Amino acid sequence: MRTLFASCVLVLSACGQPMTTPDAGNPLFTCDPMAASVTLAGSVQAQLFDKQCKSCHNAFDASNGDFSEAGKTATAVTAVSKHASLKRVEPNNLGKSAMWLKMNAVAGPGGENAGGVMPPGGMLPEDSRKLIKDWICTGAK
Ligand code: HEC
Repeated sequence: MRTLFASCVLVLSACGQPMTTPDAGNPLFTCDPMAASVTLAGSVQAQLFDKQCKSCHNAFDASNGDFSEAGKTATAVTAVSKHASLKRVEPNNLGKSAMWLKMNAVAGPGGENAGGVMPPGGMLPEDSRKLIKDWICTGAK
């Protein structure tokens, strides 16, 4: 009896996952409830966009998003990605953030990863991607 009860609880919790995207349950698209609160001006601009992105993403060709300073990045990420109907960043929603899909070489519903992974040299290490993840997951401020 006890075994039966335990297996029902297991089944129930497995079925209770929210199904917001086809990939619900995939840790790649799941915000860590303990995500560190990070902001563009506080750290993300200097630690990530300045170092890894702004050599290409700047005013000389702003069509892919100008990420050259915190204020410009904040504006650029609210735009819809040129690849899809998704915004570059949808605050608190990794699966709907074209930038997150592209940085993880994942194709989204509208082909958001067209053009390949960002940065072009290959996926950034885990800790750099975690910074972006925490930023998106804590409101992308
Ligand atoms: C060596 C130059 C270069 C670097 C460095 C680079 N990008 Fe890009 N990026 C491009 C080019 C060129 C495109 C347009 C082609 C494409 O979409 O793949 C692009 C496109 C993008 C797009 C899609 C554009 C859109 O409208 O949504 C995103 C998002 C993006 N980059 C994010 C980043 C991020 C984040 C970084 C830093 C981690 C980065 N890129 C670093 C050259 C670069």
